[in-house]
Amino acid sequence: MKIAVIGAGYVGLTTAACLAQVGHEVFCSESDTGKLSKLQNGVMPLFEPDLATVVDDNREAGRLTFGSTEDAIDWGKAIFICVGTPPLPNGDADLSSIEAVSRSIAKRVKGYRLIVEKSTVPVQTGSQIRKHLAIHSTYGLDYDVASNPEFLREGSAVGDFLHPDRIVVGVESIRAAELMREIYEPIIEQKFVCPIHKNCGTAKENAFLVTDTNSAELIKHASNSFLAMKISFINMVSDLCEVVGADVSKVSQGMGLDPRIGNVFLNPGIGFGGFCFPKDVQAFIRIAEKSGCNFALLREVEKINQQRIVHFVDKVRKELWSIRGKKIAVLGLAFKPNTDDVRFAPSIPLIQTLIDEGAVVSVYDPEASSKAKELLPTIPYCGDPYEAAAGAEAILIVTEWDEFKTIDWKRLAGVVERRLIVDGRNIFNPPEVAAHGFHYISVGRLPALPESQV
Ligand code: UGA
Repeated sequence: MKIAVIGAGYVGLTTAACLAQVGHEVFCSESDTGKLSKLQNGVMPLFEPDLATVVDDNREAGRLTFGSTEDAIDWGKAIFICVGTPPLPNGDADLSSIEAVSRSIAKRVKGYRLIVEKSTVPVQTGSQIRKHLAIHSTYGLDYDVASNPEFLREGSAVGDFLHPDRIVVGVESIRAAELMREIYEPIIEQKFVCPIHKNCGTAKENAFLVTDTNSAELIKHASNSFLAMKISFINMVSDLCEVVGADVSKVSQGMGLDPRIGNVFLNPGIGFGGFCFPKDVQAFIRIAEKSGCNFALLREVEKINQQRIVHFVDKVRKELWSIRGKKIAVLGLAFKPNTDDVRFAPSIPLIQTLIDEGAVVSVYDPEASSKAKELLPTIPYCGDPYEAAAGAEAILIVTEWDEFKTIDWKRLAGVVERRLIVDGRNIFNPPEVAAHGFHYISVGRLPALPESQV
């Protein structure tokens, strides 16, 4: 099918590239001219594992083209709207870009279009789009509007798109349901050349869920808010473990053995970040509020998350006594591993707090330094963990990159001023760190026993 994708961010670019990979003819537009010219010249504007290969292969095969929004609208029988919906100061999602795209479609198109909202939007946005299209339709546009929320995790977005646990489509007509089914048929049947694995995937008929548009929109916000709630829950359990002397990794393991609870998203740490959970929880609270429902539970989820940085800095302060003038190395800037994204990353307010308290901070991240520089331009960005740790009185682990898990302890011990690690992600085993002579503070776990008592 001829498909247009409006917006080449993480979601739009992954959607465009993967739909091309499974056989569609895709035209992807981007309004940021700098980003568009990169894409047109074969340069990736963002880091996402496997995505560069899928983009390159499909551009070369002629199935993926980049250009203007107008050309995309003219091209696609289905138009996927993947533009940003950033938070407004009051927590609402800013829907102005969605409105602008809908208006352009209404003003340009003669004939039929399936308009698919993929950006994360508040419930009832689909019906607003329908209303807007009817008002502004200039040449008698015939249309359906579908909601098709994305469940792509940064760092594994290509795999998540091609091998999804679920494909949710919210529609109001049989025509829209059939077209959405046609678009996703190769993925449901797992009939495409997988760019990541050999011999992967069996057909996933049950993964395709058709609902009305309001329900599809709610599924997205409810899912992200539920996962955020799980994280805040385990973070509170972890604080309790620290006070009473229990091990949160054992507690979450024990909880997770119950299939009704499940063993994922029960890792405590310095809180959830990224461009999805914090803004989606906030938006969901606002949606509920505006509908007269008091979702106080989610306000607590948000509050607990905001306290994670304060709690983490307290631990650092307790160890260092005074932070002022101390050299502190921060390992990890991205909000999670395998991405260069630092939006709402805990690293940013953490580093800002340390600087405000007079610390001398040096940082290292394998991918996210150049994006972090835009937010924190004055600190030194180092080429590896050892350079960052040179002369440090504390090393803080903020992102759980694999590279940190295989650190050269001897080399590290040789460069630091004091052997202290405060780990916000629980990446090491306490006895292992202790064996290398480092004092180790992690999240909600029992300290390593001195070797004599093991
Ligand atoms: C999240 C959802 O997982 C996707 O399904 C969804 O499509 C996406 O948001 C979105 O709305 O676009 P993502 O933000 O990429 O994906 O990251 P996650 O892997 O979900 O992690 C979110 C945050 O929670 C990270 O800061 C991570 O460190 C934190 N986290 C996760 C924990 O602190 N503990 C955990 O056990 C799991």
